[in-house]
Amino acid sequence: MTVLCQIGDIPDSGSRGFQIDGRALFAVHHQGRYFVYENRCPHRGVPLEWLPDQFLDYERNFIQCATHGALFKIDSGECIAGPCNGQHLMAVPFDLVDGALVLTGS
Ligand code: FES
Repeated sequence: MTVLCQIGDIPDSGSRGFQIDGRALFAVHHQGRYFVYENRCPHRGVPLEWLPDQFLDYERNFIQCATHGALFKIDSGECIAGPCNGQHLMAVPFDLVDGALVLTGS
């Protein structure tokens, strides 16, 4: 069982990056829900963030890749604009356990 963080560590409309067991991941807190993805743009395979823990666009409505500006839906990881339109971020399975984001699976 790998604890990513406490839910209080990510403010609403916020995001946070992690290095866990050699994997680059990030989590987003959006409208009371949480989402975890691998930190890898499907376009070029590079990390997504603009600055540490900054994965969202200016309005905080989409995940945005810093390299070429691709926009991804927060709830599905689907790219809806940019060079990887129609591709998806890789979702990472997790559970909420006692107020913490806990990775499940491998
Ligand atoms: S590397 Fe992300 S849009 Fe090109």
